[in-house]
Amino acid sequence: MRLPASEKGLAALALALIGRPCGLSPGEQALKCASPARIDADTVRILRDSILAGGDPLGEVFAVLRSATDRRALGAVYTPAPVIAAMLAWAEGEGAPARVVDPGAGSGRFLVAAAKRFPNAKLVAIEIDPLAALLLRANVSVLGLSERTEVRVDDYRATPELPWIAGRTLFIGNPPYVRHHDIPAAWKSWFSATAARRSIRASKLAGLHIHFFFRTLELARKGDFGAFITSAEWLDVNYGSSLRELLADGLGGSALHVIDPKAMPFADAATTGAITCFRVGRRPKALTVRAVPSLGHLESLSDGISVPWKEVEKARRWSVIVRPTSKPPAGYIELGELFRVSRGQVTGKNDIWIAGERAAGLPPDVLVPTVTKARELLSAGPMLSVAEHLRRVVNLPVDLEEIDAAYRRAVERFLKWAKSAGAADGYVARHRRAWWSVLLYDPAPVICTYMARRPPAFVRNLCDARHLNIAHGLYPRESIAECALSRLLDYLRNNVSTSSGRTYAGGLTKFEPRELERLPIPALEMLCHETTTRLDTSRA
Ligand SMILES: C[S@@+](CC[C@H](N)C(=O)[O-])C[C@H]1O[C@@H](n2cnc3c(N)ncnc32)[C@H](O)[C@@H]1O
Repeated sequence: MRLPASEKGLAALALALIGRPCGLSPGEQALKCASPARIDADTVRILRDSILAGGDPLGEVFAVLRSATDRRALGAVYTPAPVIAAMLAWAEGEGAPARVVDPGAGSGRFLVAAAKRFPNAKLVAIEIDPLAALLLRANVSVLGLSERTEVRVDDYRATPELPWIAGRTLFIGNPPYVRHHDIPAAWKSWFSATAARRSIRASKLAGLHIHFFFRTLELARKGDFGAFITSAEWLDVNYGSSLRELLADGLGGSALHVIDPKAMPFADAATTGAITCFRVGRRPKALTVRAVPSLGHLESLSDGISVPWKEVEKARRWSVIVRPTSKPPAGYIELGELFRVSRGQVTGKNDIWIAGERAAGLPPDVLVPTVTKARELLSAGPMLSVAEHLRRVVNLPVDLEEIDAAYRRAVERFLKWAKSAGAADGYVARHRRAWWSVLLYDPAPVICTYMARRPPAFVRNLCDARHLNIAHGLYPRESIAECALSRLLDYLRNNVSTSSGRTYAGGLTKFEPRELERLPIPALEMLCHETTTRLDTSRA
């Protein structure tokens, strides 16, 4: 089988699987005109068999051809099967819908699974990306679902009203996570106006996934129901309050399942996941909440603790409701309310990826200054201002074509040596998108040690250094005034002791990211009243 090397090639394969496409959008037509005429019949046959066997080979190829960075613009992270199965099982328990709407449908994973579970339901897929829409059409066509499927290549927020139908509509899917920085002002105004119609105050910092919930309520009728999986940050941050209010009111939140980030609900995005179930206009007396340690524990989305909505409405943060035992004392919040804590990247073989003499001649921009030893933080004092003394990590892109031609020979030489030294063989390398691509995380504004015979060192990272897994990065969830950040760091330095973490034999104390996120800290207003320069969170 020959897999396509470009998006045009992928579009050509999808079109071949569709056969005689009709009703294509202008964007899909353009892809059709640009796609190569010659396609490999064997590949088409194998893909068809794979789709019939329940796979999504086109979606998988799409995730390889379009880099994670490029997919971020539309929040295109496709959902793994166990999550879809659990959400649909819940939906089935609510009664069969007459229609299923999949907003931000991607290659149609939810739609196709819903079609199998609800054989009489009409299907509506709404997807803005014409290439994803073609993949979806191919899946739908191979599975013989075209007759009952409507594909709208459209922005979900602007898509026309749904026609009246006898029976209930199920809204199910994975709304795109696009941060507010990348949302145009016109859509932020749309969001404010939409929320205002419900008397809800909307924050301009809300991400696209929150816009999707609001549009859903506009399209839905009383009695409709739904389940969305999203990242979980909205449970706690200020800009999530509009969604919390919406669930408390018209959208009728019925259950909330928060998946532990260690479970990696999405293969290529290190993020938390929250599944929110709702019954439009019929809010139950209590919200069912559950912390889910791994995807294997998703099981029934009807399980969980019932927390009366009266209590839920009073809570400033909802993650505390999901973990009721760890409420911080009065006047305090948890560090995790302000920061996402993330362990640094793992290279798999530091002796290869921390640049030594073999890395001579590599392009300077792939040799990235990185904190590779805890002692570099311990000796830095309160801030790391310069990166010159830090070692460099070889941070090659997944697509080596991106490298300037002048450096290709040097990169090839280095990779040849790295491979002969076993760099491609270890578990970490085998589970990376490309064995040569360490993909360091974005610079964290604060880096801290987490394992030592002394309390952690919290260091303000002023030189954009990256960090390996000997340290944790603290990424602000919202912008924080620099003065407040500095006082907060002083507080942490003076108040977090070795007894706050877990001590191992030999006296080593370790803090896992989640343990750090649970540390109680004084609320920001107590730390600093002034508003000075704001810390840029755009890369967090
Ligand atoms: C998180 S992915 C989910 C894809 C698929 N539903 C799944 O779960 O595998 C979100 C999808 O929403 C699409 N999308 C992004 N912005 C959109 C918008 N404004 N309207 C409709 N779809 C959008 C993206 O192209 C992407 O395919």
